[in-house]
Amino acid sequence: MKIKENLSKQELVQKIIEKKEFSDLPIEDVKKVLIFFDKPHRTNEEKIKLSRDLLRKMYSVFASDKILTKKNESTEWFLKKHISTKERFEDYKKIYGRIFQGFEKEKISVIDLGAGINGLSYKFLPKKTNYIGVEAVGQLVDLMKDYFKKEKINGKAIHESLFNLDEIKKIISNVKDKKIIFLFKVLDSLEMLERDYSKKILLELTPRVDEIVISFATRSLVRREKFRANRNWLVSFIGENFKILDDFDYGSERYIRFSKK
Ligand SMILES: C[S@@+](CC[C@H](N)C(=O)[O-])C[C@H]1O[C@@H](n2cnc3c(N)ncnc32)[C@H](O)[C@@H]1O
Repeated sequence: MKIKENLSKQELVQKIIEKKEFSDLPIEDVKKVLIFFDKPHRTNEEKIKLSRDLLRKMYSVFASDKILTKKNESTEWFLKKHISTKERFEDYKKIYGRIFQGFEKEKISVIDLGAGINGLSYKFLPKKTNYIGVEAVGQLVDLMKDYFKKEKINGKAIHESLFNLDEIKKIISNVKDKKIIFLFKVLDSLEMLERDYSKKILLELTPRVDEIVISFATRSLVRREKFRANRNWLVSFIGENFKILDDFDYGSERYIRFSKK
């Protein structure tokens, strides 16, 4: 379809989100992506296509269409369909066992940033954990909400962008228990739009919580894409600025647990 050339920014954003997979993203993120490509030498068609390509990489490449549309499948079915939870499905008990070693008697809140559908792994977490998943893709937020309701779980799913740091800080400050942030396989997505945003978010959030656990893939997440391998900069940054509490691999994922110094 030919796209008119005299579209306003607002109309371009509307065009971008016409596709279902982008229809429930935080609008500020869509605008931020468009700014990236909104250059005079590009046609509107190019701007829309490039914006959608980047949005797909940042948000929706991880979840198959089936996850976005199905409702009545089992928890295990969903966990095995999402590219991230599928890879750790067999290891959840060991991973959470290691992360929460020694916290068995404490009241814990997990704030899972860029959660995808990781809220569905709630049953592997220590009993009575207060879970809060923050995710940009509205359809995944709804999926987690439905699951918490159906299973009567102490969980919340919030539709918010990690680029809205003030809102993320508010979510954190409303939590009372021992606070642990998960940032599993999400820092790469943030870097795609804003270089060094990982550093910014870690510097802002680490002093506000008890611990942070980040993870990244040690093998390619999406086979078609070349692996942006070298995370040494991130590991050194964490080592220089925070206190590393643990660093381990399970499957094709590396986890680093740390706190403020
Ligand atoms: C690779 S998936 C990992 C999901 C989950 N953390 C896990 O490991 O199972 C990355 C997730 O981060 C979400 N995401 C990326 N950028 C985000 C942002 N700026 N705000 C909120 N969520 C974001 C994506 O939509 C996607 O669901």
